[in-house]
Amino acid sequence: MDYITIALSKGRLGNDAYKRLKAMGIGDCIDLDSRKLIFKDDKNKIIYIHVKPSDVVTYVEKGVADLGIVGKDIILENEGDVYEIEDLGFGKCKFSIAGLKGKESIRKDEILKVATKYPEIAKKYFKEREQKIEIIKLNGSVELAPLVGLSDIIVDIVETGSTLNANGLEIIEDMYDISAKLISNRVSYKFKFQKIQNILSMFKEVEEKLSLNN
Ligand code: PRP
Repeated sequence: MDYITIALSKGRLGNDAYKRLKAMGIGDCIDLDSRKLIFKDDKNKIIYIHVKPSDVVTYVEKGVADLGIVGKDIILENEGDVYEIEDLGFGKCKFSIAGLKGKESIRKDEILKVATKYPEIAKKYFKEREQKIEIIKLNGSVELAPLVGLSDIIVDIVETGSTLNANGLEIIEDMYDISAKLISNRVSYKFKFQKIQNILSMFKEVEEKLSLNN
């Protein structure tokens, strides 16, 4: 039988996915503490590649990986020709607009400075609302931008809200809900359909068990 290759994203969501793969009995070959980027499970015929979240869509689109586990945020920002199979039910958070607590940061008639790691999502969102913006693309610690006067607001992911709180920011508006998605290369989805369905069922089973335990 053919191997199936799964692109696993580094970081928070990848760690959550790893816990589930372990519980499914197909994640023992993965060692997140090592610097290795490829993990092979010969028994279950699975190869994992460990990549930056923003690259998961590229690996799946190009067919290097058959499947990818990635946040909806990444899919929205990096539009690619991949098949979004299903919501996996974990990694839940949201995209929000935030600004300094108590300050009226959004004024319709002015160009709004928006700091974000997600320029495409921010551009699309404000275009639909006919709000003129200037994007300030950052790669992390976005919450700093309004504090030092680099931007009026931020567009970012909020999970627990503790980063906003710790920095005196508040949510102005919630934009989209986000969670982990299972995506597939379009050709792989046809040719490895059964194996992909088996993996999806295992994810569902494990998620159900986890929710019963909580
Ligand atoms: C993400 C996000 C927020 C934070 C939100 O950043 O960009 O900064 O997590 O989580 P919270 O609501 O639970 O506080 P990440 O931790 O990935 O680090 P980064 O800022 O360096 O990108």
